[in-house]
Amino acid sequence: MNEPTIVILGANGSLGRTLTNVLPTATAFTQEQLDITNKTRLYLKPDDCAPDVIINAAACTAVDLAEQKEAEAHLVNATAVQYLADWCTAHNKKFIHISTDYVFDGTKKAGYTEIDVPNPLNAYGRTKLAGENAALSCKNTILIRTSWLYGSNKSFPAKILAKATAHEQLRVVNDQYGQPTSAADLAKNISAMIHAQHIEPGIYHITNSGVATWYDVAVCTLNFAGITCPILPIKTNELNLAATRPQYSILRSTKTQSLRNWKEALCEYIQQHIEQNIQHQPELGGGKTS
Ligand SMILES: NC(=O)c1ccc[n+]([C@@H]2O[C@H](COP(=O)([O-])OP(=O)(O)OC[C@H]3O[C@@H](n4cnc5c(N)ncnc54)[C@H](OP(=O)(O)O)[C@@H]3O)[C@@H](O)[C@H]2O)c1
Repeated sequence: MNEPTIVILGANGSLGRTLTNVLPTATAFTQEQLDITNKTRLYLKPDDCAPDVIINAAACTAVDLAEQKEAEAHLVNATAVQYLADWCTAHNKKFIHISTDYVFDGTKKAGYTEIDVPNPLNAYGRTKLAGENAALSCKNTILIRTSWLYGSNKSFPAKILAKATAHEQLRVVNDQYGQPTSAADLAKNISAMIHAQHIEPGIYHITNSGVATWYDVAVCTLNFAGITCPILPIKTNELNLAATRPQYSILRSTKTQSLRNWKEALCEYIQQHIEQNIQHQPELGGGKTS
């Protein structure tokens, strides 16, 4: 099979950057290069690159901000997704769109499968659900729901490391349960789906396996980094966040195997993160003599 031509949108994000590394021959666009809400430019660009597959990793992911700016979030997370779905329908191309566990309300203790009915608790979840419906209007869409994604230097584990290193007090929520998911593992899985002989369009739940609270993730992060630092477990309501979060948003899959356990993936991420940050540290003194 010839290598498919791939376009990645939202290439500066946590998943977008990782996808760009995993799929080095893809044409990747950051928001600056291609704003997906700009329908005219959006429709010209894919025509330029003639993609077989469009992967949309662009999104408005500021969960609390979306409470005040739902219309703006809707434009990126739903309206623009409809533009992409329409383009893929018109050109009969594959559309891979990413969604979230936040479309569910987090009350189903057994976890949610692909056929469960969403019921978002917050504005972000509502816009992502509208985006799912837009994406699924194209019969070639593979809609991937994932959760608690980390992969960049701005990720939750990276922030925990930075705070611990700066000796800041760590207070971390211990009453939300989810599946921390490595952007690298997800990106490799997306690549495998693209290169598979055949993959049925529809909804897929893809996360690392196992269940954790944010507190669990913070504790493991520091353990893997070899840092000793006290962490105070707190309740979500102590943070006075604008958006309500699902308390137990576990994605189960009836279609694919779960990815490896979250702790194994997190350990690998922490090791790579530390190595990269050591490499990028300026050389103090630089070997110069005065
Ligand atoms: N993060 C999570 O925990 C999580 C969990 C479940 C699902 N997801 C989903 O996974 C996907 C990737 O998330 P992520 O964590 O990689 O998000 P992210 O780090 O916030 O990246 C999103 C990217 O989208 C770009 N973007 C925003 N508006 C755009 C626009 N109008 N046109 C083009 N690009 C635009 C942003 O550009 P700038 O860099 O210029 O701001 C950013 O680079 C999203 O669909 C998200 O909903 C995320």
